[in-house]
Amino acid sequence: MPSLSGSVLDVVPVMPVVVVDDLAHAVPIARALVAGGLPAIELTLRTPVALDAIAAIAAEVPEILVGAGTIVTPGQAKLALDAGAQFLVSPGATPALLDAMAGTGLPFLPGTATVSEVLAVLEAGFTDMKFFPAEASGGAAWLKSVASPVPDARFCPTGGITAATAPAYLALPNVGCVGGSWLTPADVVGRGDWAEVERRAREAAALSG
Ligand code: 3PG
Repeated sequence: MPSLSGSVLDVVPVMPVVVVDDLAHAVPIARALVAGGLPAIELTLRTPVALDAIAAIAAEVPEILVGAGTIVTPGQAKLALDAGAQFLVSPGATPALLDAMAGTGLPFLPGTATVSEVLAVLEAGFTDMKFFPAEASGGAAWLKSVASPVPDARFCPTGGITAATAPAYLALPNVGCVGGSWLTPADVVGRGDWAEVERRAREAAALSG
């Protein structure tokens, strides 16, 4: 299992945000990402098999850092921990969600999209967060604008980012990594094209964070 001595934001330049509909796809996706040089995965809790997919990856692909994404209720934080998640990601940051995620002892990225939300997360004691939905909320220009007034906040922008737009985000001082689902689109996963997932991962791994 990869060690996480630093921040979740500093493991890979691009965090693969993955939706798994078929449990049988989980391990091949994780292996393809590792083979492409991206040893991290945010497995979103958006399908009935998501927790089982996290457990399967944790058990069978020890080279990857597996996290649970789309934590939208406090109870999901504990379920993700129990499934074997090594970090948590939420699209938002209510006080109850922050408490639940902190209570697991795992590193986590709460979601923010406004300066007030960023300040609330900082007040709660956390500097690392997700910026979501990034493109719809102002994109790289927004992040550039908050870097000076709120220098302590560090972000993983996610939502609408592509291989083409990722470099502009990664060039910003307050961005550690970007997240995106473009590495594992539904059509590529649906046909089991793990070589294409690996190719996309290799391309993303070459971007500098
Ligand atoms: C997320 O949960 O981070 C987003 O749904 C990923 O956004 P994308 O699909 O636009 O990359």
